[in-house]
Amino acid sequence: MNLSSKNRLTVKESFLFPGDNLRDKVGRAVCEAGCLPRKELFEAWEVARRIRRRFRGGRVVDLACGHGLTAALLLLLDDTSPEAFAVDRSIPASAGKLHEVLVERWPRLEGRVAFEEKSLLDVPLSSRDLVVSVHACGGLTDLILARAAEAGARVAVLPCCHNLSESDKGSLDGWIDAPMAVDITRANCLKSKGYRIYTQTIPSEITPKNRLLLAEPPQD
Ligand SMILES: C[S@@+](CC[C@H](N)C(=O)[O-])C[C@H]1O[C@@H](n2cnc3c(N)ncnc32)[C@H](O)[C@@H]1O
Repeated sequence: MNLSSKNRLTVKESFLFPGDNLRDKVGRAVCEAGCLPRKELFEAWEVARRIRRRFRGGRVVDLACGHGLTAALLLLLDDTSPEAFAVDRSIPASAGKLHEVLVERWPRLEGRVAFEEKSLLDVPLSSRDLVVSVHACGGLTDLILARAAEAGARVAVLPCCHNLSESDKGSLDGWIDAPMAVDITRANCLKSKGYRIYTQTIPSEITPKNRLLLAEPPQD
């Protein structure tokens, strides 16, 4: 299967998800909704399960959420998070349909994911939150990291395209590729604020923008 396809998953592709495991069950639900590009399912899944191996509980705040699938998956993978808040300045019209299908399959999601169309700059955050963002473009990822650190929240980002004129490259771009320099500088910036960082990747067959940065503030 081409994991990086941008084509929408529809009922015709349900055969790609024959298993009894959660990933395939979610895959079939996404096919039924018929609105999500295939790669977005795999990105959200791979990110969410890596996050849940490190971070449990807390309100999930999915910033630049698109369809909000990452938020829903984080609740499905760990019921210790009571709720999720999915924010985007422009939520796709089909996000409601996808969420409806997920709630039909997993009624325990009902009323636990709130979607709001607004700028991520206007979202109040607290130290109890788990802030996540998949493919927030360019400097948006920097804003998200800064906002999470300001609040002392746990954070996980999968950065997208890099804005090399805006983002800090930490003067490392003489040695390493500039987007990598930006991501290393992001990680070191969190570290300098006392955060413990975890650097991982999701499979590059899904996306070449596959570096996942997870970080948690020092425990009291
Ligand atoms: C590349 S998409 C990623 C969407 C989703 N997270 C995903 O993985 O499919 C980037 C998203 O950022 C949103 N966005 C851009 N600027 C924003 C802002 N200031 N506040 C909230 N969302 C923003 C866009 O509307 C878009 O949905």
